[in-house]
Amino acid sequence: MKAKSSSWIEKAKKKAASEAVKHVKDGYIVGLGSGSTAAYAIKEMGRKILQKKWQILGVPTSYQAMQLATENGIKITTLQEYPQLDLTIDGADQIDEKLNLIKGMGGALTREKIVASVSKQVVIVADESKLVKTLGMNHSVPIEVLPFATSAVTLRIRKTKGKPCLRETSGKVGPLVTDNGNFILDVDFGPIDAPRRLDSQLKYIPGVVETGIFAGMADIVYLGTKYNAQKLRKR
Ligand code: 5RP
Repeated sequence: MKAKSSSWIEKAKKKAASEAVKHVKDGYIVGLGSGSTAAYAIKEMGRKILQKKWQILGVPTSYQAMQLATENGIKITTLQEYPQLDLTIDGADQIDEKLNLIKGMGGALTREKIVASVSKQVVIVADESKLVKTLGMNHSVPIEVLPFATSAVTLRIRKTKGKPCLRETSGKVGPLVTDNGNFILDVDFGPIDAPRRLDSQLKYIPGVVETGIFAGMADIVYLGTKYNAQKLRKR
């Protein structure tokens, strides 16, 4: 039973990714998101480059994205060289009807937010299970923090009624270390009525590097289903 449901989810992710890649044009500089759905988009872009001999450069948001891009024939560049990008394709953990997002279960939220913020268009890919009425319901918000400030930030967040939990990792003992050398706090805030406000409040805490709340950043979302991909646009 479990294998069946996960196989439709993989198909749904692929459908969303292949719709998103239709937004890529020859010559584009593309932000490459992280996670399993963005990975399908990277692979699909690689196929297009091969078939159509396109010149596309990618700015990866993680070592995972960099490795995948290289394996799939996408040339890598940096934000130093291209501080403005044509398009970013990335995944999400939760999406509300206004296309606000929670991101960061893959721990790449800081680079993902920077890359999205400098992209002319941000296209999000996910399976339909990620669509929710209100962000934060049954899902925590990942927050990247400086290791030095982790206890201080934890205390401040507890005072705002958030329930923080330091993310552990497998493969080694102790906390997960991000590609930027920081830690992640997964914070349960319950339902989030005002995502933009919560994001600003959290960013105000010294030691918080970035939050996984992406308010108003997505232009288009492709939600993969068992049969196709539904397109949602920012209103
Ligand atoms: C990584 C992310 C991912 O985009 C998000 O976790 C979704 O991943 P997946 O497509 O594997 O469900 O934000 O930091």
